[in-house]
Amino acid sequence: MNIGVLGAGQLGRMLALAGYPLGNRFTFLDTTGSPSAGIGEVIVDPHNEHLATFLEKVDVVTYEFEHLPVELVREIEQHKPVYPSSKAIAVCQNRVEEKALFDRLAIPTPAYRVVESAEALAQAAEELGCPVVAKSVTEGYDGKGQAVLTSADQAGDAWASIGHSQLIVEAFVDFVREVSIIAVRGRDGEVVFYPMAENQHEGGILRYSVAPLPDLDDSVQALADGYIRQLLDELDYVGVLALELFQAKDGSLLANEMAPRVHNSGHWTMDGAATSQFENHLRAIQGLPLGSTEAMAPTCMVNVIGREGDNAALLAIPHAHLHRYDKGERAGRKLAHINVLADSHAELLEKVRRCQTLLPEAPSVKWSFTL
Ligand SMILES: Nc1ncnc2c1ncn2[C@@H]1O[C@H](COP(=O)(O)OP(=O)(O)OP(=O)(O)O)[C@@H](O)[C@H]1O
Ligand SMILES: [Mg+2]
Repeated sequence: MNIGVLGAGQLGRMLALAGYPLGNRFTFLDTTGSPSAGIGEVIVDPHNEHLATFLEKVDVVTYEFEHLPVELVREIEQHKPVYPSSKAIAVCQNRVEEKALFDRLAIPTPAYRVVESAEALAQAAEELGCPVVAKSVTEGYDGKGQAVLTSADQAGDAWASIGHSQLIVEAFVDFVREVSIIAVRGRDGEVVFYPMAENQHEGGILRYSVAPLPDLDDSVQALADGYIRQLLDELDYVGVLALELFQAKDGSLLANEMAPRVHNSGHWTMDGAATSQFENHLRAIQGLPLGSTEAMAPTCMVNVIGREGDNAALLAIPHAHLHRYDKGERAGRKLAHINVLADSHAELLEKVRRCQTLLPEAPSVKWSFTL
C-alpha cells in the first residue's frame, strides 16, 4: 500500500521508517512549504494545487499534523479512506470542541472558560482564581499561543501577546506529575493501550518521557484506559490517539488535551515496546492486526531540542538509541531524540543523567517517583 501522509515532519519520517518493513511506500503532502521528513516522496503544495496528484498516488491517507484545514481533509475523504477521520481532526484541533467532548463523556478536565476579549479574560481569571493559563483555541503546540496569568490585571498583556480572537482559560493545576496514555484502535474496533508515560516539560516543550512507571497503580492505568477508550469509540477512531493528563496526589486524572496522531510521548515505544506506536498506527489504518504494546524494559525518551549534543558519546551509552530528524539547529526546535533502556529505573536514571550532560540544552531530569 502507498500511504499518503498530510504533513511532512519528523512524525511522518518515523511513520515511514516503521512502514518500510511492512512493504509500504509513502507520499507526503506538505502544505507549509518547509517539509523536513527527508524520506519518501514529498509533494510541496503551499497553494493547494497538487491535491489530485497526491490522491492518484495513495491508497489510504493519514496525517502527522492536525492543524490542517478540515475542509481539505473532508475533500480527501471524498476520494480515499482517511484515518483518523475529519471528525477526529476537527475536534482535536480546537480546544473548545475538545473540552466539550471531555465534558460530554464525563472525563474530568481543569475548570475553564472560553473568552473573546481582554476584559472577559480578566473576569475569567478572577472567577477561576489565579494562576490561570490562557491558550489560543486553535493552532497551539509546544506551549505556543499560551500565557500564564498570576493576576487578573495581566489580562491585557496576555491577550495582546497571544493575539487570537478566542482563548480558553484554565485553572492552573497543581499536579504531582504529567502523564499520557497512548492507545490504538483498529478498523474493526479492537483497542490496545500502551503503558502510561510520565512526561517532563520545560517552557511548554516535552523534554523527557519515561515508561513504564514503577509506582503507577493498576487502577490509574485502568482509569486512563477507560477515558481514552471512550474517546476512541465516540469518534469511531482508527489509528493512534494520545491523551495528555495531569495526575493529582490522590491518583485522580484531569485531561489536558489530546492529539489525533502518533505523539512525542510515545517515541519511547520505538525501542522500548514490543511494537512501536508508528508501526501500530500503520497496522491500524491498513486494517491489519495490532501488535503487542508490552514494554520490554524501563525506557526513557530524551528529546534533543535546539542544539545537538555529542552524538558519538551518546551512542556509547549501552542501550541508547539515537533518532535524528535531519533538521537544522534552531532554538526550541525538536531535532532528535534518544531512547535509553535499562534493567532498572535506578540504572535508567543514571544513563539519562549521562545523556543530559552530553546535550547542551537539556534540563535536569526530574521524575516524580523515588527510586
Ligand atoms: N491548566 C494547566 N495547569 C498547569 N500546567 C499546564 C496547564 N495547561 C498547560 N500546562 C503546562 O503547559 C504544557 C503545554 O500545554 P498544552 O499541552 O496545553 O499545550 P500545547 O502547546 O498544545 O502542547 P503540545 O506540545 O503538547 O501540543 C503542559 O504540558 C503543562 O506542562
Ligand atoms: Mg500538550
